[in-house]
Amino acid sequence: MLFLDKLKTKDTQFCVIGLGYVGLPLAVEVAKVGIHVTGVEVDPEKVKKINAGINYIGDVKDNELKAVVDKGLLTATLDFSVIRNMDVVSICVPTPLNKLKDPDMSFISSALEEIEEYVHKDLVVILESTTYPGTTREYMLPRLEAGGLVCGKDFYLAFSPERVDPGNPVYLTKNTPKVLGGVTPACTEHARAIYDQIFDMIVPVSSAEAAEMAKLLENTYRMINIGLVNELAIMCDRLGVDVWEVIDAAATKPFGFMKFYPGPGLGGHCIPIDPHYLSWKMKTLNYRTKFIDLAAEVNTAMPEYVVQTLMEGMNMHGKALKDSNIMVLGMAYKNDIDDLRESPAFDVYKLLEQRGATVCYHDPYCPKFAWNDDYVESLPLTKDLLKSMDAVVITTAHKSLDYQFVVDHSNLVIDSRNATKGLLRTQGKVLRMGGGSQLED
Ligand SMILES: NC(=O)c1ccc[n+]([C@@H]2O[C@H](COP(=O)([O-])OP(=O)(O)OC[C@H]3O[C@@H](n4cnc5c(N)ncnc54)[C@H](O)[C@@H]3O)[C@@H](O)[C@H]2O)c1
Repeated sequence: MLFLDKLKTKDTQFCVIGLGYVGLPLAVEVAKVGIHVTGVEVDPEKVKKINAGINYIGDVKDNELKAVVDKGLLTATLDFSVIRNMDVVSICVPTPLNKLKDPDMSFISSALEEIEEYVHKDLVVILESTTYPGTTREYMLPRLEAGGLVCGKDFYLAFSPERVDPGNPVYLTKNTPKVLGGVTPACTEHARAIYDQIFDMIVPVSSAEAAEMAKLLENTYRMINIGLVNELAIMCDRLGVDVWEVIDAAATKPFGFMKFYPGPGLGGHCIPIDPHYLSWKMKTLNYRTKFIDLAAEVNTAMPEYVVQTLMEGMNMHGKALKDSNIMVLGMAYKNDIDDLRESPAFDVYKLLEQRGATVCYHDPYCPKFAWNDDYVESLPLTKDLLKSMDAVVITTAHKSLDYQFVVDHSNLVIDSRNATKGLLRTQGKVLRMGGGSQLED
């Protein structure tokens, strides 16, 4: 049987490198169609959990993970030598920024080091991690060809970005269209043969670079539009207009407008990071990415703006921030998930401490986080605790929280997420960021 035909069957041996937010849902989807998956991880705890059928990712269903593990369709290992027996390797390792906000390619590099050792005839390698345009061809290809195998003939290399939206109940790994671009047409064809079995829709593009750039366009588009509405919130506060009302009104236009909402800044592993991959690449080509730079400037200043709004609210109540007690409500970077990565709530928390406030937090999804060589724990959201605070700052609007309860028992609420919208009893205690700089009655 031709290798291309084998890729269209369930006999394919599939390997996922990195079993995190992206890799584990992918591994489960592959296993669900009946293809055997081996997950290779560097974290022994994750390997143990998977092999025991225990889930640790919110977007994966516990029973689905357990079912594929029990059927022997998904196993995990720390041992990269399994790649020897694999037909397909999907790489889902982190791509963060380093301290200078340049791409940190160390995770891709160390995964590649292992693949290089076991790359063999007919292996299909697909990079899923978000990265700068050119990574697949300029960075990965020479390393994989170093042993003498030729890409597009002896083995196949493609880029297919993961586009999941954590916590989205409608669009999950399987039904989010999958953009795919190979280094050569044969690479696209081979990667597509296997991915066609797993995903509802494949969107092939003409090159790995086009696929890399498509992912960066999506996330840069979000980052820039969030920057725009954040600045609009600042403008509306000065104008005495409610930005939230303005956005909802504009969104009634059935075409040509897509709504984004303001907030305390950017968070998560994608939107605050991915556009910097593009900026970095463009700098190497002597081009400055003006839209990205400006949006980054506006978005990174938002935690400071939240604290300014808080100080304004406290001033209206005749209080100073220094020596006050403040609760940060919601630490996750977005509602209804437990992901703390790059959360702007940490910036708000830090700024409050720097200004001399005593800070605590509540988040039903995040029981604790590491802070200054120690841990801070989420405090129970009780009437007494709320009453003892000079102010509560809503940084993430988890749907499970009772905001009427929060307002009823707090002295002052600074709402950077419009979580208090429509509450009946605000009693001059609520200042919504972007709400026009007025305490609400
Ligand atoms: N989280 C998201 O919502 C999301 C969405 C789209 C794209 N992405 C992209 O997907 C990639 C992965 O992100 P994630 O959120 O899954 O990260 P993650 O940190 O949740 O998972 C990465 C996993 O890779 C493991 N790992 C690290 N180095 C490894 C190595 N050398 N070999 C094997 N395993 C290794 C880690 O232990 C971890 O379990 C990133 O490039 C990210 O930008 C993430």
